[in-house]
Amino acid sequence: MSFDKIIDRRGSHCVKWDMMEQLYGVSSEDGLAMWVADMDFPPPQCVQDAVQAMLDHGIYGYFGDDSKYRAAIQWWMQTRHGWTIEPDWIFTTHGLVNGTAMCVDTFTEPGDGVVLFTPVYHAFAKVIKAADRKVVECLLANNEGRYEMDFDAYDAQMTGNEKMVILCSPHNPGGRVWTREELQGVADFARRHDLILVSDEIHHDLLFEGHRHIPMAQVDPDITDRLIMMTAVTKTFNIAGSHVGNVIIEDPDLRARFAKRMMGLGMSPNSFGLFMATAAYSPAGAAWVDDLMVYLESNRQLFDDSINAIPGLKSMPLEATYLAWVDFSGTGMSREDFTCRVEQDAKIAVNHGPTFGTGGDDFLRFNIAAPRAVIEDAVGRMQKAFADLQ
Ligand SMILES: Cc1ncc(COP(=O)(O)O)c(C=O)c1O
Repeated sequence: MSFDKIIDRRGSHCVKWDMMEQLYGVSSEDGLAMWVADMDFPPPQCVQDAVQAMLDHGIYGYFGDDSKYRAAIQWWMQTRHGWTIEPDWIFTTHGLVNGTAMCVDTFTEPGDGVVLFTPVYHAFAKVIKAADRKVVECLLANNEGRYEMDFDAYDAQMTGNEKMVILCSPHNPGGRVWTREELQGVADFARRHDLILVSDEIHHDLLFEGHRHIPMAQVDPDITDRLIMMTAVTKTFNIAGSHVGNVIIEDPDLRARFAKRMMGLGMSPNSFGLFMATAAYSPAGAAWVDDLMVYLESNRQLFDDSINAIPGLKSMPLEATYLAWVDFSGTGMSREDFTCRVEQDAKIAVNHGPTFGTGGDDFLRFNIAAPRAVIEDAVGRMQKAFADLQ
């Protein structure tokens, strides 16, 4: 399959294209959708075949015996990430936003503080606030276009009311692949302040050359008794609509608490997600991800070179993810002004920086997981919209 093929997603109930006009005022007729984090590529043939086999069979009843599914997850974590897990550590939630909400619900109480390193994926704060917990923002330092942590500052901020910290690893937005030292710093921080550590590793497969993701569970064996790992097949293989995510818990006590909450809410996954995940976590799926990352690398280069050539704009160098995080502060324009140019002049729907929390004000996030021609079109529009700066 060539990633160059343009597939028209409009009119398919695709949030990214079919909601852009309503939410951003950018028409899908002549605009480009570069916001929601899904890709404009079909998944690998092995996944399509799994869905086709379901259709061919034609009965969609209750799913039983998920041993192959669990074995596939085990195989993927071992071969792609060097992480050994047991089948009974795995829970399947309705995606990882749901997984996050389940963790907040199970392991904290209303009024408790939940620490986030901001700017960070916006749904974390949404679920924390909706559950009547408090978001505690620990700001990432932007050191010459690279997000870094400052644990001395975070220690000084803690009040004792905090019960959980949620890490995004690799980081969205900004695309950092945290180093072993940084991850150890997070583990130590969680221990110092007696926090449950939730590590959302949904972007762990989307790594650019030269970067290696380290699962938090591999960093520090003594963190297990407070660690909740979250992974998903959906971001890697572009099957987010199947809404499956994995919460992986080694510690038996934490696991029992989580299992009870899942039971209490009557949660169980849909069969489409389980069939797709089992097919994706395979050698054929792995080969597709390798090809995908080669393609995305070229998109990233094209996007960054073109955006960075516009005076005042700076795209953060991505180590992982396909979500380019562009800093407009160098233009001296107001947020309204640069956003208006992107949306109204260039007609590109993007995510607004402030939705990611404190630290995001000067930024817009562009999804670059699209056929090359779309990226070429997008950067051409951007150059035109900011032509007066050249
Ligand atoms: C860090 C992070 N977690 C979770 C999600 C969404 O997860 P799901 O679709 O499984 O709810 C995203 C989507 O962009 C994300 O970036």
